[in-house]
Amino acid sequence: MKILVIGSGGREHALVWKLAQSSHVAQMWCAPGNAGIAQERLAKNGAAVECVNIAAEELPKLLAFAQEKRADLTVVGPDNPLALGIVDLFQQHGLKIWGVNQKAAQFESSKFFSQSFMEKYGIPTARAFTVTSDEFPHWENSRRADQREFNLFLLANNKCVVKADGLALGKGVLICNGRSEIYSAMLEMFSGRKFGDAGKKVVLQEYLEGVEVSLHALCDGTTAKIFPTAQDHKRAFDGDLGLNTGGMGTYSPTPFLTDVQLAEIAKKILEPFMRGCTEEGIDYRGILYPGVMLTKDGPKVLEFNARFGDPETQVYLTRLENDLVELLDASVDGTLDKMELKWSPLASVCVVMASGGYPGNYAKGKIISGLDVANALPQTKVFHAGTARAGDQIVTNGGRVLGVTALGKDLKTAQAAAYAAVEYIQFEGVHYRRDIAAKAFAASGNPT
Ligand SMILES: Nc1ncnc2c1ncn2[C@@H]1O[C@H](COP(=O)(O)OP(=O)(O)O)[C@@H](O)[C@H]1O
Ligand SMILES: [Mg+2]
Repeated sequence: MKILVIGSGGREHALVWKLAQSSHVAQMWCAPGNAGIAQERLAKNGAAVECVNIAAEELPKLLAFAQEKRADLTVVGPDNPLALGIVDLFQQHGLKIWGVNQKAAQFESSKFFSQSFMEKYGIPTARAFTVTSDEFPHWENSRRADQREFNLFLLANNKCVVKADGLALGKGVLICNGRSEIYSAMLEMFSGRKFGDAGKKVVLQEYLEGVEVSLHALCDGTTAKIFPTAQDHKRAFDGDLGLNTGGMGTYSPTPFLTDVQLAEIAKKILEPFMRGCTEEGIDYRGILYPGVMLTKDGPKVLEFNARFGDPETQVYLTRLENDLVELLDASVDGTLDKMELKWSPLASVCVVMASGGYPGNYAKGKIISGLDVANALPQTKVFHAGTARAGDQIVTNGGRVLGVTALGKDLKTAQAAAYAAVEYIQFEGVHYRRDIAAKAFAASGNPT
């Protein structure tokens, strides 16, 4: 089989690495890929994975490439091409592609769409009040029933989460205290300066307290197979301080849910989700990744993402024992009911090494040393995110640079192994969190 993978981050390196282990794959490309992806070799024949200089959003060029090379399967990593309709485009041309179609991608590209869907189909979520730009001038005087709800939940703690409707690179969510902050946040979103179309609608959600976990399920239009739990670390600094980032590290499994509890949650979320999709005519084939808050009143979905998490993928795929090509094929073909997902009992921890200054401004082109030594450690894999090749060196080329991932017999062992590998890697200005997975060892599940 010939496979084309789309994207260039740590998630895509993990996908390429795992797909390359499949006995079905004889040739693989990645567009645009990164320096780590270019070092991968196929288990079947030792062939190198070839990086192709086409960006993930250049849909016509990607289509032309897949047609020219006669790719048997294209695997899409990031959200943007999915929201732009890459899956629909490839299908119209008779090409096999894995990922959600444009209609299904709305779950991620529109928080408004997701919130309405969750309310309609009884998926447990935060209470919410949605406001459009037309309604904004008189938003506090609407007679809608959810306005009364909003007043009630705002009274509870005087807090509210204001979310811009569209894709906003993790910057469209503001936690506000009191009405004047809520008003300012909405004003900024509706002004259209920073958020464009993403800010034409906003969702005001009740502020929920609890432990946040990432769920993933692989779907094939009718069947949804839940993954084990993972937890992300979104903030830049230890103790969940500093700005939100794309993710500074992950671990799996988390101790916050037993297998029985996870199965119960999956049922509460996935069953109404799949039923709703059938009723709305949404053919959901791909990953469904709900962000979930475990509150004292039960699990509540905060948002849906429609692709693999980054860096969740790094911990999931190091634990996955199935052939990934077979799973993705089944997801496209609608035959997942015949598959059983198999997970290693080992724990996995991924520590992201970032450029100094990220998620703000940062320099690029810093030489990275120690990669080979770190990669050669047992049970350890260094996934590249923002890297490039410069002569015979590998240099930094993005905010998140590496995802150092290690397995261990338990979380403590995996954590120690990941940090041992991190110690070997150097580049100027490097920044990483020293507390990835620490929450697992704190009884409350909150920062230690
Ligand atoms: N209703 C809520 N209550 C408390 N915290 C929330 C709520 N909604 C979102 N958050 C916090 O904000 C973060 C980002 O919100 P999310 O809906 O996941 O949007 P995005 O990932 O698109 O930025 C979440 O990971 C969570 O920590
Ligand atoms: Mg999120």
